[in-house]
Amino acid sequence: MKYLIPLCAVVAASLMSAADEPQKLTVDTTESSGVISRHLYGHFAEHLGRGIYDGFWKKDADGQYVVRDDVVASMKELGVPNLRWPGGCFADYYFWEHGIGPKEDRPSVVNNLWGGVTEDNSVGTHEFMELVAELETEPIVVGNVGSGTVEDMANWWQYINHPGESPMAKLRRENGREDPWNVSFWGVGNESWGCGGNMRPEYYADLYRRFATFLHSYGDTKAFRIATGPAGADYNWTEVVMERAGNMIDGIDLHHYTLDGSWTTHKGQAVNFDEGGWFRLMGRTQEMDELLTNHSAIMDAHDPEKRVWLIVGEWGTWHEQEEGSTPGFLYQQNTLRDALTASITLDIFHQHLDRVKMANIAQTINVLQAMILTDGERMLRTPTYHTFDMYKVHREAKALPFELDRGEYEYEGESIPALSATASIDDAGRIHISLTNIDPNASRVVEVDLKGMDAKKVRWGKILTADAMNTHNTFDAPDTLVPQDFSGAKVEGGKLVVELPAKSLVTLEL
Ligand code: AHR
Repeated sequence: MKYLIPLCAVVAASLMSAADEPQKLTVDTTESSGVISRHLYGHFAEHLGRGIYDGFWKKDADGQYVVRDDVVASMKELGVPNLRWPGGCFADYYFWEHGIGPKEDRPSVVNNLWGGVTEDNSVGTHEFMELVAELETEPIVVGNVGSGTVEDMANWWQYINHPGESPMAKLRRENGREDPWNVSFWGVGNESWGCGGNMRPEYYADLYRRFATFLHSYGDTKAFRIATGPAGADYNWTEVVMERAGNMIDGIDLHHYTLDGSWTTHKGQAVNFDEGGWFRLMGRTQEMDELLTNHSAIMDAHDPEKRVWLIVGEWGTWHEQEEGSTPGFLYQQNTLRDALTASITLDIFHQHLDRVKMANIAQTINVLQAMILTDGERMLRTPTYHTFDMYKVHREAKALPFELDRGEYEYEGESIPALSATASIDDAGRIHISLTNIDPNASRVVEVDLKGMDAKKVRWGKILTADAMNTHNTFDAPDTLVPQDFSGAKVEGGKLVVELPAKSLVTLEL
């Protein structure tokens, strides 16, 4: 990590209020630590709760599911580089043949995993690909390894991708689609250590090799094969799967969620939390850095050229679902706290660009740390949506290395770094700096030194902040927490000085 926490800063922080002592950010504009792939800003839509039905799709007057224009417009405004589907755990229960052909002939099945509700397969391959086209995104399809066969998966792949004469291409044409969709990103199972089959890594590695063998290249479409990766800190999984199957893997898919509480007792509240809940969640968010460092080191031993992507295919906050919402639907509100965990996580991804090339926040609509929540015809953009929006400027830009005196945020005798940042330069030479101050009690002054360049002026600044830690948007007041113009940054004597309020995210263009 290039973060710097000098001892003097720690001492200083304990002697005076954080607001009195400027903290330094030194950005090197003459170097780059890599391009920030747009795929790090990926999304995820599972057949879970109201993510698909009553999320991306709604029923029209005839009772048919149609894509929601308002949701699509909002997501397009944000830009969706990729969309992972149909799960999640659902992927290893999903039989793609159920979701093709005339709607009235599609079977209704039980979504055993998520609330035991009826899945009538109204949304299947064709509908998903139509959404992909509308969003102008790249699909990531996750195949069924847990309860499907090699033949099922190979046929689905052929159905989607075969351009010429083949049994599955014929079936696709009979269902109204002439051309293949040319999907490259392909997951070979999901969480195969858990809901995807409770496998040992040794067994999964062998199964992976078998399933991946039959994803043949068709026309110009070559599979980018994504293996189930570890759960959080399960380093043995990465070691075994990379050792036994690494030569056939293009990406390995780590999943890691951030909870205030625990999986077994209480996950923590989305809205009704105190400063302890704020502090814990912020601290746990920062654990992502250690996970990426350690999994990358294991991968380096097997793949020193760094050919294989480390993908964070599911990440985000996971709270107790909202009281009164349907059990198993994982519907949660989203506050300023969630928004800042997102900016910190994106900052961490940007520190691992050599290995971490793709990530998907879970999930897009109405599920977990969503971008959008809907209620009938109404919809709102969550604070996390706004974080993603404020970070758009970094996508496909060159990351600039920096050293940051992160300072300390102390709570009841413990402390965690207070500041987090990303700096990048885009093709047009515009420098963007995002700074997050997680301290809910104290503002910070950050002195930014641009090595290799004199700061001349701040072109614009945006800020996301609020008085209360749990500020969120509601259907009655959907714009309670939205980015505002920020005037707290100025250039003084060639140096940029930023006054960063407590619990805030700022993005600046220089
Ligand atoms: O995102 C919700 C669930 O979390 C996914 O289905 C699963 O892969 C993970 O455990």
